[in-house]
Amino acid sequence: MGSEAGTHVADAAADARETGRRFLSPVMARYFERTWSHGRGHHLYDVDGRAYLDFATGIATTILGHGHPAVTAAVHAQADRLLHLMNGLGYIEPVSRLAERLAATLPEPLDAVFFGNSGAEAIEAAIKLARRASGRPAIIAFEGAFHGRTYGALSVTTSSPNYQLGHGPLLPDVHIVPYPEAYRRFGGDEAAATAVSLDALERLLDEVEPSRVAAIVIEPELGEGGYVPAPLEFLRRLRALCDRHGILLISDEVQTGYGRTGRMWGFEHAGIVPDAVCAAKGIANGLPLGAIVARRELHERWGRGAHGSTFGGNPVACAAALAVLETIEGEGLVANAAARGDQLRAGLDALVAHDARIGDVRGRGLMLGVELVRDRETREPDGELGDAVIARCADAGLLLLTCGPAHNIVRWLAPLDVSAVEIDEGLGIFERVLAAG
Ligand SMILES: Cc1ncc(COP(=O)(O)O)c(C=O)c1O
Repeated sequence: MGSEAGTHVADAAADARETGRRFLSPVMARYFERTWSHGRGHHLYDVDGRAYLDFATGIATTILGHGHPAVTAAVHAQADRLLHLMNGLGYIEPVSRLAERLAATLPEPLDAVFFGNSGAEAIEAAIKLARRASGRPAIIAFEGAFHGRTYGALSVTTSSPNYQLGHGPLLPDVHIVPYPEAYRRFGGDEAAATAVSLDALERLLDEVEPSRVAAIVIEPELGEGGYVPAPLEFLRRLRALCDRHGILLISDEVQTGYGRTGRMWGFEHAGIVPDAVCAAKGIANGLPLGAIVARRELHERWGRGAHGSTFGGNPVACAAALAVLETIEGEGLVANAAARGDQLRAGLDALVAHDARIGDVRGRGLMLGVELVRDRETREPDGELGDAVIARCADAGLLLLTCGPAHNIVRWLAPLDVSAVEIDEGLGIFERVLAAG
């Protein structure tokens, strides 16, 4: 790069950062203060032309990496044909076909889809559907869950106290019970975590009355709250409890869905079928799209016109999403996520013996978290180390993120089509960063 062009790029970078700092709301927390230029494949590039292996994927969203040719072609073709319809005007091919294909990834009887624009909207829709279709008011959710930032979704979100703080009053008749978190509270004993959560749930139902409960909403693996997979036995018993009381079970698959955990959907690990599934993030590889899928009879009880959206199910986003599904299915990417997840897990597990600051390695498939602690005995979270590790990994060309209220869980969100070589590269950088202090 000539020196004049170099100066121009540096100016543009400084300008984007300074202008952003001046005009963008400070409410948005940022992991990095870097200025980005573009993405290609599994790399993000900053404005200085530095490449970063992108295992952050826009928080589990660019699941096929950047500039995927099939997605780009689908977006271009649909943009040329029609940008926007508003689905209240009728039917259009990419939207109807995506609904059909999406339903086909789910077990019976989950066969009817409502499209929104985001994860929060999908949760919002699920709460509305559950209340109206059941005629019951109460909603139960789990401690540490993240379901989104709009009022309904926020009311069931407790992954950080900062999210609800000062935003009340929230939705009434929302009840929170402990997530079956084994590491921090029970030293890894999943059976104990399962028993305590179920017991709390039973006691809550005695208080609230099961016949008043519309739905229980759960992430099969806690996302923002700390990458904690629910024990499979817990999910099975939760399904049975819902069946006993006629309560709808809503699986928030916004982060766990679409192959992330090594199965198409996170609930599949437990062999259960929820009553409603919420999806978003990766389904259109970065274009805004969310979906709630439930059986047709439930949607019918929701009632015509009870819900809607101007932009939801945008044709360009749906065309992109069709290309994503075709690629996942055509290239066997769920199996790849499982295999690469095993590889990554083995590599991370191997680090535990050398580094006492790693308290726990956990998760399913390519949704793995490394919990950093000050002391393995006390399990005291080391958030400073979490922040430092992702900053140093970025300096070394690897993008990872943290999660959990103390930022002490380093989360790995590689794209589903990641290669074995890239996993080794990421592990190598992580290992060197940890070894350096
Ligand atoms: C499990 C889960 N549900 C819901 C949401 C909200 O999604 P969105 O940010 O698209 O509203 C998120 C976002 O991180 C999530 O991880």
